[in-house]
Amino acid sequence: MQQIVVVGGQRLQGKVAVHAAKNAALPIMAASLLASSPSSLREIPPIEDVETMKELLVSLGVDLFEEGDTLHIRVQGPLNTQAGYDLTRKMRASILIMGPLLARTGRVEVGMPGGCAIGARPIDLHLKGFAALGAEVEERPGWVEARAPRGLKGNHIYLDYPSVGATENIMMAAVLAKGTTTIENAAEEPEVVDLANFLNSMGARVQGAGTRVIRIEGVGELQGASSYTPIPDRLEAGTFLVAAVATGSLLTVTNVIPDHLAAILAKLREVGAAIEVEDDQVTIEAPARIQATNIKTLPYPGFPTDMQAPFMVLLTMADGESTVTETVFENRFRHVEELRRMGAQIKVEGSTATIQGVPRLKGAPVVATDLRAGAALVLAGLAAEGQTVISGVHHIDRGYHRLVERLQQLGARIQRVQPLGVPTGDLTPQ
Ligand code: EPZ
Repeated sequence: MQQIVVVGGQRLQGKVAVHAAKNAALPIMAASLLASSPSSLREIPPIEDVETMKELLVSLGVDLFEEGDTLHIRVQGPLNTQAGYDLTRKMRASILIMGPLLARTGRVEVGMPGGCAIGARPIDLHLKGFAALGAEVEERPGWVEARAPRGLKGNHIYLDYPSVGATENIMMAAVLAKGTTTIENAAEEPEVVDLANFLNSMGARVQGAGTRVIRIEGVGELQGASSYTPIPDRLEAGTFLVAAVATGSLLTVTNVIPDHLAAILAKLREVGAAIEVEDDQVTIEAPARIQATNIKTLPYPGFPTDMQAPFMVLLTMADGESTVTETVFENRFRHVEELRRMGAQIKVEGSTATIQGVPRLKGAPVVATDLRAGAALVLAGLAAEGQTVISGVHHIDRGYHRLVERLQQLGARIQRVQPLGVPTGDLTPQ
């Protein structure tokens, strides 16, 4: 298994451009199943999760081909409506094919996605939404199936929690339903808005995305969207901005939508960073000393849970005591153990971590347990004294394209290594 080796203490400098958002690209790729004609998407980041979604679409009978930075998606013949556990286990976002397939074919069956490192991650709100639209939902051990042989019918749906995935899945199911659907207490994330824009570019009638109430008027058919580019990845942007503060650097991050970064920029200012925002770029200058502050993760527009682990790295080196409260997932402090190995002083009680800042972290061998925890450990390694060796790199590759190379270009002393194969079996000479 590959590892990332970082030698800390190196300042970063220059500019880095952010890619299209993973969490916008994945639902948009799934939504292309809804159209009777081809769609083309541009600048989709070639990260692991996108490759998995491509594999999933092909397994459903979709034709994919790439031309430069354009991905062409064409639904030719009849669609396969079953996705196995091997795929839904590998990537939770696979369940985003449920809404489109149910709407398009009247049937979908997926391997029930398991939990993952950050929590149980049930899909009850997705299934409740499909049932409200008239589908029969059946759960069998390891499988879940939804059927709507006579099509779906619009309805009023209230989400107990503003779940991003449930909002997206129900929206995609409702666009071809008979009549109007309203989703109340909907997720407001920018990626939900981007999906709504993509659906509308296919001829759907979605209004109110980005607010708590989304209204979808069902239509008879959708046409493919051409040359659609998903929004820039606010989480990748946030990761580079935090890297600048962690390494005491001056850095410009380009291809961003500043509005999407409001909570992140507010917290970076609170720890003392100087930030200049121009139309599609942010320049950040690290403070001499990082100030302590408190973070509470919330659904958008609150502080994003996906930035909790990366941001915590700054608080481990801040002057004074900080607290981080994770309200979105029930088990998203797996990076704490690893940061402790680097000398961080963190105490976790329930959903709150209390952090006493230390002058400097110390490099150590650590393990990435999920995508954002992995990114956090890279940032910790950039700031730490000495060498850090990070295992579990595949988690990072799921959501960050060429993170190591881009940090190298900014001046970081970081590289990806293939550890010498540890010999197995008995090596004593016969
Ligand atoms: C999306 O996951 C993102 N993934 C996650 O990013 C992100 O952390 C999360 O939204 C929150 O912003 C993609 O967009 C592909 P949720 P999702 O449904 O849709 C509970 C990353 O790092 N819940 O908003 O799965 C759930 O258990 C990933 O890029 C239910 O109880 O998140 C969680 O506690 C990680 N029942 C909370 O809601 C349901 O039916 C938020 O989950 C659905 C969710």
